[in-house]
Amino acid sequence: MTADGKERAKWAAAEGALNYVENGMRVGLGTGSTAEKFVELLGRRCRERNWQVICVPTSEATRAQAERLGLALDEAYPDFRSLDIVVDGADEIDGKGNLTKGGGGALLREKYVASAAGRMIVIVDEAKHVERLGSTFRIPVEIVAFAWSNTIGRLERLADKVELRKRGDQVFVTDQGNYIADCTFSSITDPAELHRQLKNLLGVVETGIFSGLAKVCVTGHADGSFSIQEF
Ligand code: A5P
Repeated sequence: MTADGKERAKWAAAEGALNYVENGMRVGLGTGSTAEKFVELLGRRCRERNWQVICVPTSEATRAQAERLGLALDEAYPDFRSLDIVVDGADEIDGKGNLTKGGGGALLREKYVASAAGRMIVIVDEAKHVERLGSTFRIPVEIVAFAWSNTIGRLERLADKVELRKRGDQVFVTDQGNYIADCTFSSITDPAELHRQLKNLLGVVETGIFSGLAKVCVTGHADGSFSIQEF
């Protein structure tokens, strides 16, 4: 897919997801370049139709964008209870709706928001569809900064390769003040089980494996169309 085609596909997926939002809903806002497009379109729709939606963003970047667009945040934010839906991107999606997330480092807040939402709508371009998670993207694991190399040692007993995420020559720090370990697995046959094993390790805060959360996937295509898959 060309870069232009990819952009068109992302806009198409964002457009398709807009059909799931209604006036008055409580909406979780994802993070990443596809979710950013959805937030843009949602802001426009709310302005044009005078809609009142209440939003919970999954990162500081998305919060700043939502505020810029005049979208209302939950008055309890950063606390919140239930949401009607969340619309978020993904790094990979398999045929059962299991996801790899966390390419942008927002996986912890993304998981809170997805778990609180009645319906998770995933927006991706075609290239994100995989047979098995971990085949095109490493599994991000959020770990506490304290004794991080200890935690990496424990992860190395499960993964083929583990790398502490950096931005330039600085360690990448999440919105929650944690680190990310990007883990390579040769073959992931049971994503939910792998998530459980990783979560059991001391120092692991959350994993980028989202199992059983996605209810709908809107896939954007390079020609500007989108298709829907339900789980
Ligand atoms: C952010 O932490 C991620 O989970 C993103 O949702 C994911 O990386 C998809 O991002 P893009 O839409 O930019 O590919």
